[in-house]
Amino acid sequence: MKKLRFERVPTHIPGFDKLVNNGFKKRSMNLIIGGAGSGKTIFSVAYLVNGILKHNEPGMYITFEEKKEELYENMSEFGWDLAKLEKEKKFIFLEYSPERVKKLLVEGGGLIENIITRYNIKRLVIDSITSFVLLYQDELTKKEAALSLFGLLRSWGCTTLLTSEKYIVNMDKVEGGGLEFEVDSIILLYHVKEKGIRKRAIEVLKMRGTKHIEKTLKMEITGTGVTIYPNRIVIFKHEEND
Ligand SMILES: Nc1ncnc2c1ncn2[C@@H]1O[C@H](COP(=O)(O)OP(=O)(O)O)[C@@H](O)[C@H]1O
Ligand SMILES: [Mg+2]
Repeated sequence: MKKLRFERVPTHIPGFDKLVNNGFKKRSMNLIIGGAGSGKTIFSVAYLVNGILKHNEPGMYITFEEKKEELYENMSEFGWDLAKLEKEKKFIFLEYSPERVKKLLVEGGGLIENIITRYNIKRLVIDSITSFVLLYQDELTKKEAALSLFGLLRSWGCTTLLTSEKYIVNMDKVEGGGLEFEVDSIILLYHVKEKGIRKRAIEVLKMRGTKHIEKTLKMEITGTGVTIYPNRIVIFKHEEND
């Protein structure tokens, strides 16, 4: 049988695409998990900016937490002029409250769906979904809410990155497993302290339909954004005896 090739959406983040067979699967949903300061926002904005500059693909950044002015100022550090891209209608910033997303799930796509159609959005980021999930009390309703959010996101047909501070639900507590099966890929960002120094690393935990690298690799944030070093394996102290 002929092998089906998935269309790929490259991030152009130095070092990343080679780890995952040239990029995210087109129209896939990808979860980036990492603690505060691990690089989730910088990674996901790089993904959008590179889509605009290298592929002329409009991108939308939906956030519950980041303030627009602050984000634009922080990202200008990396040479990304989000205000200019916004004027050109290539970058759409949308600050949304978790409560409004909750409403969206009941009423359907509404405003966001209109923007996606009107601006022909191809790349979508939601940064982060942690506060949305926190709206729900117990693990089961959290899971149900996340599932219906994922359903809505899938219906929009973008290649989507969701960031999260932790696993979305406690997988041990939910019958039928966690949400890891609902997303197409899970990327872990580490920022671990050892002997007083924090080290950054990245790991592709899973990516459907993709033979991906199974190493934890060195990552850096510099004046140009995120860089990954495919030849530099990172071993954290706590795993040396595994
Ligand atoms: N210009 C820069 N050069 C080097 N590191 C930077 C620069 N700007 C930010 N950082 C690092 O990136 C971190 C923030 O990354 P961010 O993507 O906002 O994390 P997250 O969204 O996971 O909380 C900062 O705490 C800092 O360590
Ligand atoms: Mg962030």
